Amino acid sequence: MVINRGHAAWCVTSLALVILATGLYIPYANNAPHGATGNSIAGLLFGIAGTTAMIFAGLLAVRRRLVTRKFGSISWWLKGHLWIGLCSAPLIFFHSGFRFGGALEQLTMWCFLAVIVSGIIGQVLQHVTPRFMKTAAPQQAIFEQLEVAITSLKKAADQQMLSVYDTLFVDVQDGEGELADDFLRAFYLKHVRIFLQVEVDPKSSLLNATQAEGIFATVRDGIPRKMVSVALGLESICNERRQLIAQNKLQWIMHGWTLIHIPLSISLLILTLMHIIMSLYF
Ligand code: HEM
Ligand code: HEM
Repeated sequence: MVINRGHAAWCVTSLALVILATGLYIPYANNAPHGATGNSIAGLLFGIAGTTAMIFAGLLAVRRRLVTRKFGSISWWLKGHLWIGLCSAPLIFFHSGFRFGGALEQLTMWCFLAVIVSGIIGQVLQHVTPRFMKTAAPQQAIFEQLEVAITSLKKAADQQMLSVYDTLFVDVQDGEGELADDFLRAFYLKHVRIFLQVEVDPKSSLLNATQAEGIFATVRDGIPRKMVSVALGLESICNERRQLIAQNKLQWIMHGWTLIHIPLSISLLILTLMHIIMSLYF
């Protein structure tokens, strides 16, 4: 989600909540005989408020799995997740009096901080990615449709070639392609068509934009004029393939960070439950 003006109300409310909580915390921490502690009334109230904020953030996962709009739009929950999730941090620190406590509390606190930090990293990624994708990968083909997009690029390239050749599939042997007329087909089969596979050879010279530009310039010099427009078409198809590769990498990053944030947040909820039981009943 991109942070824009639609976040203003959430941002102001969260800020007001944090200022109010700080206003309550300072006199409480200064006047309590043993400083702020988790088991004082105020400490417990901060603990309950922080946990409620965490649970509210976690409810995004539940909302995502509901088809109905009865419980608010996904966008409302995403904004709430971000801002209320952030508010949970000061509330929990006010609860613990900025201490990390015993072994279970330490584990809970580190897990909590990891959820917040991974959330912030993910949010930054989501914020910068759409803008980056506009320049690096304008095709916007989504991750699952990548294979379909690549196949259609290959089809388009084949069609370009068939506009100047009767057939594509000739055996490319050493020596072939030396005739100006055959040169483009040999280049296409040896380099371009392989580059338009789903799995690209990491050593392919067409992977690098500058190198590819040089190669295509050389190819254009070595072919008859009637084929130049086809070579230009192939070059633009290769550019699109490169954009899909960049986009695929981004999709992995975008998807990858949630593989850290989500399991950590599940662990956090379990640890919090254990902490509540241990500290209140034992
Ligand atoms: C409804 C929720 C919660 C309740 C009722 C609760 C309750 C308590 C209690 C009773 C203590 C004092 C234990 C003692 O001094 O022996 C405590 C301490 C502590 N709690 Fe919580 N807690 C809650 C949520 C959380 C959460 C979500 C975190 C962290 C993510 C957390 C972190 C801590 C830490 C670090 C301490 C130790 C502070 C110290 O050393 O004095 N608590 N909590
Ligand atoms: C204790 C607090 C938090 C909990 C328990 C939590 C939990 C979760 C969960 C369970 C999801 C997956 C939702 C789904 O199923 O799609 C999620 C997604 C996400 N979280 Fe958090 N989170 C917390 C705090 C934060 C914070 C502070 C930020 C950022 C500042 C953040 C940023 C995100 C983002 C960007 C997503 C992806 C949303 C999307 O699908 O576009 N989270 N979080």
